[in-house]
Amino acid sequence: MGSVADSKVWADYNAAQADRPVRSLCLDAMALAGPGTGRRAIDLGCGAGKETLALLNNGWHVHAVDSLPDTPDRLRAIAPDADGRLSIEVRAFQELGILPPADLIFAGYSLPFIHPDTFGGFWAIVLDALQHNGVLAVNLFGDRDSWADIPEWNFHSEPEARQLFAGLEIVKFEVYDADGQSFRGPKHWHIYDVVARKR
Ligand SMILES: C[S@@+](CC[C@H](N)C(=O)[O-])C[C@H]1O[C@@H](n2cnc3c(N)ncnc32)[C@H](O)[C@@H]1O
Repeated sequence: MGSVADSKVWADYNAAQADRPVRSLCLDAMALAGPGTGRRAIDLGCGAGKETLALLNNGWHVHAVDSLPDTPDRLRAIAPDADGRLSIEVRAFQELGILPPADLIFAGYSLPFIHPDTFGGFWAIVLDALQHNGVLAVNLFGDRDSWADIPEWNFHSEPEARQLFAGLEIVKFEVYDADGQSFRGPKHWHIYDVVARKR
């Protein structure tokens, strides 16, 4: 991702998110991580900011990352009272050299959109930022997804996906493998919803 056309796709996608509930994967991560007060969470590919807001409302300091240039405007509009608990980084994941230490890292439907050549390096940065006992909650795409022939995005077999969490305690690993809809029309979804903890 990274072209103007891609930005338009994400802008349209994010604009359509206003009425959906907070992602259950983020709620699972918050429940597992415990009270956010005084601790930092990272929302990778924060998009419309629904999960950023949910984290803020649970007391977390939130570092929100997204490559879309209007991300600060969008987040400040929905969280005007963040009181210095919100930091925003407008950057493509593959251009990040470091992330701040965090006790919760959430990435909702965002990590698959990294080029496979740069995914491994970025994943190492994510694991490095995750603190002892920290919770990581991500969606990854499987190799049976109908988008799996898109060379710019990353897809994993289930053993490959599980291997990414080697050294972490996998608390939840759910596989969704079914026909459905996307913002681009009908497709086959093959998704891993993963919650893991650093021990
Ligand atoms: C499908 S949306 C998901 C947004 C939100 N997390 C959610 O669950 O609805 C993907 C988001 O990730 C961002 N994104 C996609 N690829 C990215 C990349 N390589 N670096 C940074 N942000 C990226 C897009 O701008 C978009 O806001």
